[in-house]
This record gives sequence, C-alpha cells and structure tokens, in this order.
Amino acid sequence: MRDWPDRRLLELLNLEIPIIQAPMAGSDSVALARSVSSTGALGSLACALLSPDEVREAASAIRQGMSRPFNLNFFCHTMEAPDTAAEKRWKSFLQSHYEGFGLDIEAVRESRLRLPFNEEMCEVVEEVKPEIISFHFGLPTPDLMDRLKKRGIRVLSSVTSVREAKWVEDRGCDAAIVQGFEAGGHRAMFLETNVATQVGLFALLPQVADALSIPVIAAGGIADARGIVAAFALGASGVQMGTAYLFCSEASVSPVYRQALETTADTGTAVTNLFSGRHARGILNRYLRDSGLISEAALAFPYAATLIAPLRAASEKTGSLDYMQLWAGQAAGLVRAMPAEEFTRKLAADALSRM
Ligand SMILES: Cc1cc2nc3c(=O)[nH]c(=O)nc-3n(C[C@H](O)[C@H](O)[C@H](O)COP(=O)(O)O)c2cc1C
Repeated sequence: MRDWPDRRLLELLNLEIPIIQAPMAGSDSVALARSVSSTGALGSLACALLSPDEVREAASAIRQGMSRPFNLNFFCHTMEAPDTAAEKRWKSFLQSHYEGFGLDIEAVRESRLRLPFNEEMCEVVEEVKPEIISFHFGLPTPDLMDRLKKRGIRVLSSVTSVREAKWVEDRGCDAAIVQGFEAGGHRAMFLETNVATQVGLFALLPQVADALSIPVIAAGGIADARGIVAAFALGASGVQMGTAYLFCSEASVSPVYRQALETTADTGTAVTNLFSGRHARGILNRYLRDSGLISEAALAFPYAATLIAPLRAASEKTGSLDYMQLWAGQAAGLVRAMPAEEFTRKLAADALSRM
C-alpha cells in the first residue's frame, strides 16, 4: 500500500491517517471522536460549551477501551465587558423577530456563555491529559501554554492568514490548522478583523506552508478524497474536516439540521455574525436572508447568542429552520452519509490510491 507523501503530522501526533475530525461545539460527540480515533485518524471533542466536570467525563468516555490519541478543543477569545448600550441596540435589532413568535425580549434570562480556556480548564486538561489540544480564536496565555507543553500535550491552533500562522508558530504551537474561507462554523480570526479579506484555502494554504516550519493542516471545504489529495499537493501534512463528519450517524445533529445539510448546494451557505456575534458560516435560512447576514448591531461574542436562543428554540419547536443555527461549509453538497469509521477509512484509502 502506498504511503502518505508527507509524514510530519503523522509522526508529530502519532497517527496512522492524517485526517482530523474537526471539533464541532454542539454537533460532535464522544461516539464520533472515539470512532474516528479508533481508525488511527484523530477524533476531536469541542469543549467550548462543556463544564470542567463534563470535560472530565467526556474524556474518560472517549478513552474507555480505546488507546489511540484524541484531541480536546477550546476557544481562546477575549471576553469584552458587558455593554448596556450595545445590548439595547441588539434588542432593538431582534425585537420584530421576537414579536413574530409572540415572545417577550425583556423576559430572557442569562444563559451559559462560551468561556475561553482558563486556569480551571487547564487543570482539567492536565488531569485527563489528552494527547492533543487544539484552540480556536488564538492561543491561551503563555503560562497556560507552558503548562500544556510541559505535560507533553501537542498544541494545535486554527489560523486564517499568514500573519496569524506565524503568530501561533512563534508562540510554540506544534502545527497550524489553516482555515480557508470555505469552512463551516466560526471563522478562527484573532488578529484579522475584516471578514471581507478572508482567504480561500487554495490561495492560503501554500502561502502558509511556505511561511512556516511547523506542519500545516488544511481545513475548509474538504469533503472527499480529491480535497485531501489537493491539500497535500498545496503543502499540507494533514486535513481537518468538519462538515463532512456532520453527515455521520454519530454526529449530534437533529433531523431537520441533517435534512438541511443533505439538501444544501454550493451557494447554500454564507458567513454571518447574527447568531453569536462572531463571523461563522452556516446554511442560509429566513432569519439570515431577512436580516442581511452581517450587522454592526450584533452584540459581541459570546453575549449575542443569549438573545438568539429563544428564537432558535421557538423555531425548532415548530420544526422550522427559520432561526436555527446550521453551521456548515461550502462543500456540504459533496458528502454522502456513512458511519464515521467507515467514512474515515474510505477517505484514507481513496486519497492514497489517487496520490
Ligand atoms: C458545525 C460546526 C461546528 C464547529 N465548531 C468548532 C469548534 O467548536 N471548535 C473549532 O475549533 N472549530 C469548529 N468548527 C470549525 C472546524 O474546526 C473547521 O474549521 C471547519 O469545519 C472546516 O471546514 P469544513 O466544515 O468545510 O470541513 C466547526 C465547524 C462546524 C461545521
């Protein structure tokens, strides 16, 4: 059997297949991560919405009878102070949507916010010692980075430009996940602020590969073996795939979300800040179409999501997609549903036979 043309990531992370199942907060699962890791590829679990105890529990469930490496993923955003004037603007932007459902916007209570990786989570990670940890929106503080590295945990971070890639390499990251504009979910931008200048994977990947000495991982719009082969040709040592894994039976995806994924065409997604306050790519629906995708009125991440939750819940109750957050990338139309283990092995075999 042929070998992968670049083995740097395989050796760094102790993998047999250079495919990472993307962490997907709210949509991945212990079963998904276990299935992918058990093939020799890398399964991931997003921890942005989990409490420290939930992370402990999930990590031990992934490990149960499975000795391959796995990845825990955290957000590293900066929390801005709550801003009452900005909250008022966000309320007035959403008021008519609330009226559509007969909901009272003033009655909405605080919800659990997505918190950045901190001292408490670092202790949990030191305790459960995943082989790999990955970050979105930058990296944690240097002292937390030191602690992870001292434990021998490999650190990955998503980047969206050459500048961000150099920044994570300079701060001790072991490999950079290059996130092209095609990607589903949140844009990882942390130095970049202008979403209009975000780069597609074909242009970004070779530029980052040329600029770094650490391995680079391609992410965004890769959904079959052809994308994997192209990523290697452009300088990647591995790929990270999100949307494609949403189609697997192990993903935590509701039937309406699944149906939307299955019917989304190439132009069916867009980047919006109207769900969380940060830019993210998802399937177009009525809320996004009516509201124009991007607005200055959106409250800062992670606060914006609190006022969206009741609209999502009301919409979901009626079985409608109108206000649902349906993160997905531009290659959703390429994917065929399959169990994760079979899918991962097939991707690897098909990619190797084309290389
Ligand atoms: C539903 C969904 C949720 C995501 N959540 C996270 C997350 O919690 N953490 C993270 O690092 N990346 C997250 N991402 C982004 C992925 O890491 C990756 O950049 C993206 O999936 C690659 O593009 P693709 O979806 O076209 O494969 C998410 C992506 C999707 C589709």
